[in-house]
Amino acid sequence: MPYAAVMFDLGGFIDDCRHAMAEPDRVAAVRDVLDRVAAEPGAVAAALGAPTRGGIDRLHHAPDLTVLNVVWTPGMTMAPHDHKMVAGLVVYGGREDNAFFRLGEDRIHAAGGRTLEEGDVLLLGDEIVHSVTSHPDRYTGAIHVYLGDFFNRDRAVWRVDDGRPELDPPAVDEVFALAEQAWRAVAR
Ligand SMILES: [Fe+2]
Repeated sequence: MPYAAVMFDLGGFIDDCRHAMAEPDRVAAVRDVLDRVAAEPGAVAAALGAPTRGGIDRLHHAPDLTVLNVVWTPGMTMAPHDHKMVAGLVVYGGREDNAFFRLGEDRIHAAGGRTLEEGDVLLLGDEIVHSVTSHPDRYTGAIHVYLGDFFNRDRAVWRVDDGRPELDPPAVDEVFALAEQAWRAVAR
C-alpha cells in the first residue's frame, strides 16, 4: 500500500477552531482540534515551512479568536506574562520550556513548569502567568490559539530577575527582534 502523506490544511484548521468556538464547551472543543494537529506535527511544519526567523505570524485575528504561528528564536525567553484569556498551543518543532507562577502580594512566585516538545499540547487558563524559554540551538514552532483578541487587551508582565511587575514592558515584536540579534551574533 503506498504511503499517503498527511497534509495539514491551514484553512481547514482555522475553520475547525472557529467551529469549536460555537460548541457548548468551547475550551474542550479547541483542545480536540489541537490534539488532532498534534498527532502530525511534521505535517504542520511542512505546510508552514521550516522556521528561519523568530516572530509572530497572525493566521487568524477576530475579537473572539486569535490564531498565531509563533516561532521562537533559539535560546530566547519571554518574561512572565498573562493573557487574560484561555489559550491553547501545540508545538510542531523544537521545544518550549514553560514556567508557571502564582501571584503574590507584590511579586510572582515560581509554581512549577512544563516542557513541551514536538506534538505536545498545552491549555492555559485565563488567569495563568507563565514564561517561555525556547530550545537553545534551534527554532521552535508552535501554533497558539487564544480565545479572545490577543492584540487588544491589557497585558501584565513581570520581571525575570525579581518577579516584580514590569511597569513599562517592551513590545512583543521588540522582544523577538532583540532575541534575533542575540542569536545571529552567536550562530554561524
Ligand atoms: Fe504566553
